[in-house]
Amino acid sequence: MILVTGGAGFIGSNFVLDWLAQLDEPVLNLDLLTYAGNLENLSSLEHDLRHIFVKGGIGDTKLVPELLQKHKPRAVINFAAESHVDRSIHGPEDFIQTNVVGTFHLLESVRAYWAGLDEKAQSDFRFLHISTDEVYGTLGANDPAFTEATPYAPNSPYSASKAASDHLVRAYHHTYGLPVLTTNCSNNYGPYHFPEKLIPLCLLNAMNGKPIPIYGDGQQIRDWLFVKDHCSAIRRVLADGKLGETYNVGGWNEKANLDVVNTLCDILDELKPRADGLSYKAQITFVKDRPGHDRRYAIDATKIERELGWKPQETFETGIRKTVIWYLENQPWVANVASGDYRQWLNKQYV
Ligand code: NAD
Ligand code: DAU
Repeated sequence: MILVTGGAGFIGSNFVLDWLAQLDEPVLNLDLLTYAGNLENLSSLEHDLRHIFVKGGIGDTKLVPELLQKHKPRAVINFAAESHVDRSIHGPEDFIQTNVVGTFHLLESVRAYWAGLDEKAQSDFRFLHISTDEVYGTLGANDPAFTEATPYAPNSPYSASKAASDHLVRAYHHTYGLPVLTTNCSNNYGPYHFPEKLIPLCLLNAMNGKPIPIYGDGQQIRDWLFVKDHCSAIRRVLADGKLGETYNVGGWNEKANLDVVNTLCDILDELKPRADGLSYKAQITFVKDRPGHDRRYAIDATKIERELGWKPQETFETGIRKTVIWYLENQPWVANVASGDYRQWLNKQYV
């Protein structure tokens, strides 16, 4: 089996669902169920014996070694993290605890487990760390896209904590020979995306008649990748990635935030027109910019395409349409996540 951490979050749950839809290898899913973890994402696996869920933290130095000894996974895929840049600006400490200290403890637990395996199991074992393009910092309008050789220059507490975790993973390979792989991916979007992030937040606010908040001038650029394409890239890297290497993953879809939101509004205008006949664009509101806001990210995904034969299946246009339809068809999920703590976050960030 494989051990997935953070498998109740946005990308992790998509990964677990896709994995079990395509393969028969069981998944042990370790997730602390913070505000971002949601077992409802995995409700279709309720009676599936191939999915074992355990509530707990990657930094738990008693639980993790016990789980490793009991289930003897052949790989660990580490999605678990605090992931939202704005939250890292309000309160960086959780990011240091989970992304840096948590990853360190996880690496230590895995190193001890791996050292006790026989030679064949040791050489087959993989620790795959899921990271982000944000570790590379920001680009000017005409700069070339990030490659795996771009120096790290993280600008937010979130990206700094992810960079630190990437360095630890690298060091555990270099120093101890732990068989690690790292992926650095661009902005994901798709089903089960928690509505603190741009695309689901704007969709929910649009549908609820609320302002659609655009930071600053809305001309910041991100590269967007449909989450299922990220999941297929992770499967490719796990299967054939070269030990100790990093792989950039991206969709060749650079878009300014305002263009992304305009596209969302166009699709909503077509699929669920406003009662008053106006476009949802009427709800777009420019708000205070994010402190230290990175201007542009762009991913050069040549290496994973050339060496591992991976390519995204969705264009931005097909992926974003699927996403809007998913949110329209999954109103109970939306209603459940948009309650409780979530409202407090909106008040803190936007009021
Ligand atoms: P998310 O916030 O939706 O999910 C994170 C999950 O980790 C949650 O289920 C949460 O409960 C769990 N978690 C948090 N702390 C934990 C701990 N100490 N122990 C165990 N579980 C814990 O995040 P996401 O968007 O799904 O991102 C997953 C990973 O991918 C992160 O490492 C993130 O840095 C990386 N990433 C995200 C994106 C993106 O666009 N969302 C892009 C590139 C990389
Ligand atoms: O690049 C990969 C990263 O993408 C991941 O590592 C992070 O985990 C993930 O959260 C995401 O980070 P971003 O900061 O790019 O995503 P977010 O959805 O928060 O913001 C996308 C862009 O939209 C960014 O330029 C800020 C802007 N924005 C965001 C929100 C929430 C707005 O203009 N208004 C908003 O209300």
